[in-house]
Amino acid sequence: MREPEPQESAWAGARFRGVIETIVDGVIIIDAEGSIRLYNPACQRIFGYSEAEVLGQNVKLLMPPPYHEEHDGYLAHYRRTGERRIIGIGREVVGRRKDGSTFPMDLSVGEIREGGETAFIGIIRDISERHLAQRRMAQLQSELVHVARLSAMGEMASTLAHELNQPLTAVTNYVQSARHMLGAPDRFTAQRIAEIMDKAVEQTIRAGQIIRRLREFIRKGETDRAIADLNQIVREAAALSLVGAREQGIEVKIDLANDLPPVLIDQVQIQQVLLNLVRNGVEALQQVQDRRLTISTRCSGDGAVVRVADSGPGLSPEVAAHLFQPFVTTKANGTGIGLSISRSIVEAHGGQLTAETAAEGGVAFQFTLPAGPR
Ligand SMILES: Nc1ncnc2c1ncn2[C@@H]1O[C@H](COP(=O)(O)OP(=O)(O)OP(=O)(O)O)[C@@H](O)[C@H]1O
Ligand SMILES: [Mg+2]
Repeated sequence: MREPEPQESAWAGARFRGVIETIVDGVIIIDAEGSIRLYNPACQRIFGYSEAEVLGQNVKLLMPPPYHEEHDGYLAHYRRTGERRIIGIGREVVGRRKDGSTFPMDLSVGEIREGGETAFIGIIRDISERHLAQRRMAQLQSELVHVARLSAMGEMASTLAHELNQPLTAVTNYVQSARHMLGAPDRFTAQRIAEIMDKAVEQTIRAGQIIRRLREFIRKGETDRAIADLNQIVREAAALSLVGAREQGIEVKIDLANDLPPVLIDQVQIQQVLLNLVRNGVEALQQVQDRRLTISTRCSGDGAVVRVADSGPGLSPEVAAHLFQPFVTTKANGTGIGLSISRSIVEAHGGQLTAETAAEGGVAFQFTLPAGPR
């Protein structure tokens, strides 16, 4: 004789309930009309409503406008056409708490069919903390870049002041002596004046050399080159500098060639270049509605080309004329040395950084890097 069948579905149901009650994600089951049939404890934490308050209520209670008004329509549409808009796909949506506040959440929806009845199960994860963290990270990053720039500039300025003091004092003294002598211009004095002027010129040249050497030093300073996968570096730099870009409605396209030669580069420096170009693009896009940014790599002759193009407003003629010079900026908080440093870095790697009008409508910056030893 057979044992009586265990109550399979009831047992499964109890186990199912147990799982749902302890799960950290919010779980809601609604019927085909949208009434809430199951609402787990995690949901109480997420939405602030107790189970008793929501059971039997329409799920749109948990949605802010415009979803609140549209949800019944979605369900009806699905009943009519069977067309899936969210079922089976995860999506980031906005939820509404009991106190009326809204928050971003990840929602995945599945369909349950039992005995000719349809129900929907939604799994909800509150991602406001992730959002906050992302925003904070973006903020920290730009602060960090800025602070690094400012301190590099501070150091550069004090070294410059110190080094330049000597030739400039000499120039001042020479010019003053010559000025005195101009009162009595006999042949001998005229010759002295010429000599002194030559010395003044020498010192001016020296001052120029000091600046050049300093730039050289900054360029070479602590470079640590290795053979690297440029696409990987581009991917990482893009990820870093594009935090928060999607929320600003920027459509990002990353288009990487798979036949790039290996390059010999200082990874940190090249990332700095990318970071600056992408940040510039993102900043330029704030001024327009149509926000597109394309980051691409391609192979060219004996090396690789990286391109960052945006659909921003483009360069004004005044800026374009001095684009790569230090301290050229149109931004309230810009230092204006991003592009000048970027160009030094690229040139120190044997490449070139140039700007042109992008097909996207804004500016396209691109730089080349020679192929490294294979
Ligand atoms: N993609 C772009 N679209 C339009 N203008 C740009 C773009 N990139 C750079 N510019 C212009 O060039 C100027 C100089 O850029 P650069 O990166 O050197 O300095 P910044 O962005 O102003 O300041 P920093 O990068 O030091 O914070 C910018 O202020 C801006 O006017
Ligand atoms: Mg910049």
